[in-house]
Amino acid sequence: MHTSATDERRRPPPQLVVDGLTAGYGGATVVDDVSFTVGPGEVVALLGPNGAGKSTVLKAMVGQARITAGSVLLGGIDITSVRPHLLAGMGCGYVPQYRDVFDELTVRENLEMGGYLLGKEAIAKRIDDAMEVFPALAGMMDRPARKLSGGEHKMLAIARVMMSRPTLMALDEPTANLAPILGRRLLDEQIRAVVRSGAAVLLVEQRAAAALSVADWAYLLVAGRVVRSGHPAELRAQADFAEVFLGGGDATTAARNTSDVRA
Ligand SMILES: Nc1ncnc2c1ncn2[C@@H]1O[C@H](COP(=O)(O)OP(=O)(O)O)[C@@H](O)[C@H]1O
Ligand SMILES: [Mg+2]
Repeated sequence: MHTSATDERRRPPPQLVVDGLTAGYGGATVVDDVSFTVGPGEVVALLGPNGAGKSTVLKAMVGQARITAGSVLLGGIDITSVRPHLLAGMGCGYVPQYRDVFDELTVRENLEMGGYLLGKEAIAKRIDDAMEVFPALAGMMDRPARKLSGGEHKMLAIARVMMSRPTLMALDEPTANLAPILGRRLLDEQIRAVVRSGAAVLLVEQRAAAALSVADWAYLLVAGRVVRSGHPAELRAQADFAEVFLGGGDATTAARNTSDVRA
């Protein structure tokens, strides 16, 4: 049995450092003093019940929620108050849960948009690269995104962000609209491929079991706070965590049981 401290020392030096992040909307604080790190080539899962503030953490990182305290460092550079449109150029990739592609544009046009910072030749080369990672898309380059299946749609969303070669890839519930088996495949194949590019992967998921199977490290967010973190094997072995988050039951029960799962 590994201790958390031992495992933590085996993690790579972080690419992303979120420190004491407090953020919300208008005057309301949704996430409070949240700290976590993601190393290059690591998949870090941010788990938690519906409404815990997982999406808000990502939105705060990309300038879509208001940060009132704390900092976000990417590759040692403070991006806390960098304007959203500059973030992609600084290596920050984000795949939102909804509105993640342009439905009226074709697959090719979506990929070209993802590479808008690049020259024409580089775009063509990276589209070729993307087709190797996402071969399912190769035969449908001229198809409008709205005609893709759920799984193809999510692959395109990831491929589009990969066009800019992000050093951080933050994904908000990429499996949410997929059948379990397709969600599993997306995590096992496509997310792994993103990791092989060397990016730090921050994976927000409500499906804890599936996320833990692909993650190198995980944080549990409940009611806007990180209440636990550890190696997936360690979290799985904790009876209370397993019961609440891996039982396949209603994850929102956890919100009512915050004190039970707080480490
Ligand atoms: N745009 C918004 N304006 C105001 N409140 C919001 C907004 N988005 C989310 N919230 C609130 O923030 C809380 C956390 O939401 P969210 O970050 O989406 O949680 P999760 O992704 O973990 O399900 C919820 O109470 C939600 O109602
Ligand atoms: Mg969410």
